[in-house]
Amino acid sequence: MTRKGAFIVIEGLDGSGKTTQAKLLAAKLKKSHGAVYTAEPSRGKIGKFIRNHILYGEERPPTSVEALLFAADRIDHVQTEVAPALERGQLVVSDRYLYSSLAYQGSAGLGLQWIEALNQHALKPDLALFIDVDPETVLGRLRRKKSVMETLETQRSVRQVYLHYVAKGDLTRIDGNKPKKAVAEQVLSAVTAFLGTRS
Ligand code: TYD
Repeated sequence: MTRKGAFIVIEGLDGSGKTTQAKLLAAKLKKSHGAVYTAEPSRGKIGKFIRNHILYGEERPPTSVEALLFAADRIDHVQTEVAPALERGQLVVSDRYLYSSLAYQGSAGLGLQWIEALNQHALKPDLALFIDVDPETVLGRLRRKKSVMETLETQRSVRQVYLHYVAKGDLTRIDGNKPKKAVAEQVLSAVTAFLGTRS
């Protein structure tokens, strides 16, 4: 196991396969790097509140309130799950993190600077990957399991925010339109390249 932990974030639209990819990555790096899978909204109290009362409800609170809740959940998630694992020298793979707030609450009309300011004390990821899948493809996959956030227009504008952070160099784009195995290979090679720069 490596002595130094690493915090890796996997982002993408709902239905992009990011959960599958994050779990595969954590499984692949379990033995060598003590990798663990985690996700936002988290398993903690605030994360559960978000899942039970916010995400699939008929009446959504103002976007600013949602952003505050996600930011609070993030601090809780880092304190209870991410930081302790990193301190043990483990590699942490988080399925969604800060860029989900920027992409989803940002595309819902909240200023990106406002969201960045709210999250300024959240731990910076060492590497953040964006699994990029065409919004049309994603919507087809989601037809059966649809949350309030999932219309084609929403998916497109969420993707645009993610691409903004790809252009800034904060997110690394992975072509998610390929078969699962090919996407997994790209994810693994991006992570391996990153880990190589640190050793
Ligand atoms: P998702 O990864 O789809 O969880 P699951 O597959 O378990 O339902 O995340 C749920 C939703 O939460 C997703 O539509 C994006 C949204 N979300 C935000 O809007 N902002 C955030 O900061 C986070 C972490 C998630």
